Amino acid sequence: MWTPDRSNGQPIYQQIADDLERRISYGEFPPGSLLPSERKLAEQLGVNRSTVILAYAELRSLGIIESRSGSGTRVSKYKWGATPKHTPNWSRYAVGGSFLPNVPFLRRIREALGHNPSLIDFASGELEGDLSPVEEINSLLSGNHFNSYLGYDNPHGYTPLRQSLVSYLHKYRQIQTTESSILVTSGSQQSLYLITQCLLSPGDAVAIEDPSYCYSLPMFQSAGLRLFRLPVDSKGIKPEDIRALYKKHRIKMVFLNPNFQNPTGAVLDPERRARLLDLVSELGLPIVEDDPFSLTAYEETPPPPIKSIDTLGSVLYIGSFSKMAASGLRVGWLVAPHSVVERLADARQQMDFGLSVVPQKLASQFLNSDYFAPHLERLRLRLLYKRDLLIEAIRAELGDLVKFTVPQGGLHLWCKVKPEVNDGKLLEEAIRRGVIFVPGSVYGSDSGYVRFTYARAGEQQIRPGIMKFAAALRAVLG
Ligand SMILES: Cc1ncc(COP(=O)(O)O)c(C=O)c1O
Repeated sequence: MWTPDRSNGQPIYQQIADDLERRISYGEFPPGSLLPSERKLAEQLGVNRSTVILAYAELRSLGIIESRSGSGTRVSKYKWGATPKHTPNWSRYAVGGSFLPNVPFLRRIREALGHNPSLIDFASGELEGDLSPVEEINSLLSGNHFNSYLGYDNPHGYTPLRQSLVSYLHKYRQIQTTESSILVTSGSQQSLYLITQCLLSPGDAVAIEDPSYCYSLPMFQSAGLRLFRLPVDSKGIKPEDIRALYKKHRIKMVFLNPNFQNPTGAVLDPERRARLLDLVSELGLPIVEDDPFSLTAYEETPPPPIKSIDTLGSVLYIGSFSKMAASGLRVGWLVAPHSVVERLADARQQMDFGLSVVPQKLASQFLNSDYFAPHLERLRLRLLYKRDLLIEAIRAELGDLVKFTVPQGGLHLWCKVKPEVNDGKLLEEAIRRGVIFVPGSVYGSDSGYVRFTYARAGEQQIRPGIMKFAAALRAVLG
């Protein structure tokens, strides 16, 4: 995003006025549209509010914008874009469509990180650059040549990648499958999206964990689904709760993240897994097993997926490179019965004609290379180290103010603070002090929790980040 250049000699307010004038003339802010508030723009540009007030005054004096108390500052309808009746009402279009906007806390987090990249980031659920196999990907890239056909690819995904995934799933996840049962997706998110859009209908009831990553996805509400909660304890969900929901609401599908669950870190107990499969096969109910974290298991071997003991084909299994290698590659996969793969591939083709072959080829080569296993080993050790740094910092800085269970894999620590703490106030106070996290209420019904991701912040930032958080919490608690 553009920011004023403090060294170019022109007054900052003038630079801001010029930039806005340019954006207005390019149609980014059409006649009649609302401009950001002075406070918001000042925050975005990293300047004082008084500088933005001057810039707006300049544009007002030229008749380009107009301000009315109570309705903010708008682009003038009459000076700019001579015929206002031909200008579409973009703000009304922008609230149309079937996609709901992201939940407000997540939009606030994205906005704060965008404006202030120096915030210590305990919010973004991904690996820091150092934990991704950057050198390995670079060396694979340098050996790559695309000298053959580069047209639209197979709608199910790049065939060599699906072949590599068959071996990967067998070796690392004990899942027996064939390439025709695999759909390559642009991350688990796309698998979830395709499932909700293609296999379910508005009004259908589905069960999701509470707390759960899925609660933060308006995608479920956009698809018109009714969501019912399966409380998660230290051993994951209780299968009997599914039976109760089925009787009461005729739920159509169950979404689970059984290994190092986001956000709690819980692992579904093996005995519960077996009972779960018995139950869903009795009810004819499908399970979506979202499994992005299992290969981060720090010390013990990761728990085998539910899919590995599913002999009836009740489980749709979702995997991804995001949490074990690099989220920016946007490579994920779905293992499902043939009819499901066909349906989702057909829908995805209507959306975008399939994925780019470039990251798919890289992903396939990475999986088959001698880099993959050592990368995982290094990732686990580094995540374990960072987890311990976080725990040490929390114990030292927060003491009895928080409670948590130590996660054995994954990227997150789920922390109970006091229920009376106001999520919004704590978040704003933390941002003001230079640290950011995700308030627990984003993930479900419980208040008084926070999710710290320790994978994203640098090792040196963890202690200072927790010190800032502790100061924010103490300020909010008074
Ligand atoms: C449980 C879970 N599922 C799915 C995703 C989506 O990941 P991606 O689309 O990057 O694979 C995330 C991301 O945070 C997640 O935590």
